[in-house]
Order: sequence, then C-alpha cells, then structure tokens
Amino acid sequence: MRFPDVRLRRLRRSPAIRRLFDAPPPSPAKFVWPLFVVEGERRCEPIDSMPGQNRMSVDVLLRELEPVAEQGIGGGLLFGQTEGAKDAGGSGAFDDRGVVQRAVPAIKRAFPELVVMTDVCLCAYTEHGHCGPLDRHGQVDNDAANGLLARVAVSHAVAGADVVAPSAMMDGQVRCIREALTENGLEQTLLMAYSTKFASSLYGPFRDAENSAPSAGDRKGYQASWGNPRAALRESEFDEEEGADILMVKPALFYLDVLAEVRRRTDLPVAAYNVSGEYSMIHATAARGWGDLHDMARESLAAIERAGADLLLSYWAPFYRELF
Ligand code: PBG
Ligand code: ZN
Repeated sequence: MRFPDVRLRRLRRSPAIRRLFDAPPPSPAKFVWPLFVVEGERRCEPIDSMPGQNRMSVDVLLRELEPVAEQGIGGGLLFGQTEGAKDAGGSGAFDDRGVVQRAVPAIKRAFPELVVMTDVCLCAYTEHGHCGPLDRHGQVDNDAANGLLARVAVSHAVAGADVVAPSAMMDGQVRCIREALTENGLEQTLLMAYSTKFASSLYGPFRDAENSAPSAGDRKGYQASWGNPRAALRESEFDEEEGADILMVKPALFYLDVLAEVRRRTDLPVAAYNVSGEYSMIHATAARGWGDLHDMARESLAAIERAGADLLLSYWAPFYRELF
C-alpha cells in the first residue's frame, strides 16, 4: 500500500499520539557525571569553558551530589588535580592522601547508592602533561606508564572505588591493571576501559578544566586516530581480552557509527563518553541564540543511547530533571 492509503503523518498527528510511539528517554540510572575534584575546602570554581560545571573540593562535591543522588543518577566519574608539585612520572596520581583517594570514601559513605568511578591516568600529575613518563626520545614510555597506571588504579580501588577507568591508551594497560588488582585482593573492582578513545579535537574544554594539556606535542602517538576506525575497534577487542568489564567509546557524538559497531561486536556493557567539547558546543550555540539548550542536549543524548550506549558519561547528568 502506498499514499494516499498510507499516511505516515497519522502516527504523529498530536502530542498524545506521538508520545505513544516515541522511545522513552534514557533513565537517570544510565547517567554518570564526570567530576573535577580539587584540594582544600569550600572551593567551587566555575569552569569557564564548561558552563554549569565546577572544580570542587570534597566538601562542596558532597553538597552538589545530594540532588544528583536524589534524581537517581547512576554515579560519578572522578578526575583529580594536584596543587602539589608535578613530576616526570605523575606520582601524585597514586598518593594515598591524594584528592581522589580522599573523595572516594567520602562519597561512598554519604551516597552508597551512587557508583563511584575514577579516571586512571597521569596527565594531570605529570609536569609535561602527557599520560605517562617520557623516554629519551620524548615519546611516552608505554611499559613504564603501565606500571604507574596500575599503582594509580590500586590506590583508587583500595580507597573504595567501584570502577577504575584507565584512559591513558597505553598498550596492555588493562591487563597490567587487572593483574595488579588481583594481586592486591581487589578482584571485585570493576574495570571500565576507555578502549576506543580517539585523539580528538573535542577535549579542549576538559584540558582547560583539568589543566592537563600537554606542554609540547600532542596525544596522537597513543590515542586512536579517527582516520583509522578499524584500528580503533581493535583497541576495544584487545581490552575485552585483557579483562575489561566495560568498554567505552569516546567521544560519542562524532563516533556514533563506531559506538554502534562496538555494541554489535561485544556482549560487554558499552559506555559512551559525551565529552567536554560536545557539551560546550551546545552551550556555545545556545548562548548565541542559535538553538535551544535543552532541546539540543536531549536530542544529542537520545542519539547516543540509540547508537547502543548502556552508560552515558555526561556533563548533562546533574541537569537530568531539567532535561527530561
Ligand atoms: C585524560 C582524559 C581526557 C579526557 C578524559 N580523560 C583528556 C585527554 O585525553 O586529553 C577527556 C574528557 C572530556 O573531554 O570531557 N586522559
Ligand atoms: Zn591522560
């Protein structure tokens, strides 16, 4: 049957009819809020490049998480920052008294219903801003980085993190971290691999927030090339073999095809990281009056879920109630 017998507009004639057939919004439980934790007390510093997001000390973080937990948001992903000296190997990242190591138990105690995840990397703690120590050619030393990343992951897991999430894109980092967790009796800790993580131009606002931009060079020697999606898919396959519990595609919106493909290839849960640039470009567009903030946010989040994401790591998480 064809037009005029079939009229597709019948199914969208009124809001009531449309509502019957529209997919429901992703539930709040699927959202994880990325958080920037800093030392000190009563610190809540707005991040210029990311409207609505702040660098927070632990006490402020606990206050801000209350309405978030109330809305049923799934959890938080912690990024730490140090005021102390940075060094060549980023040793501040595995300091037992570091800000992430202190934030984790505080959040667990106050909000047992939230899943606490931690970003495992070195770039916010190295003096050169790369995700691992440099060798004598100025390249990130893969295997040396792995040993340090394992120490970071163990320190987060000992602090009580439910999920550790290595983001450095070193070869073998997942295996190395999984082994270290097991050796330390931390076999219950979940490992979420930033597995298909592209060297993207969309991390700019985050690097401003974290003060983690490399002082020289870029991350193209370790993060996946967006020009070579097949190699990027292998990253996810390897991470699954190495013992990851959850895979991730990052960024999300420019890589929905890759997300759908990872979803098709694995039975592991797949997370999508709706990164800083994706968040800030919507804010920037809305600020110029070129689109409605909440409409654009909703549409983008629906796209990520439709592509197959089980988890949405997103700066929109604390605004769930305004959005849906
Ligand atoms: C650090 C890290 C980055 C992000 C998450 N972990 C930045 C980078 O790789 O340069 C980006 C997150 C975002 O843009 O929201 N390894
Ligand atoms: Zn890094």
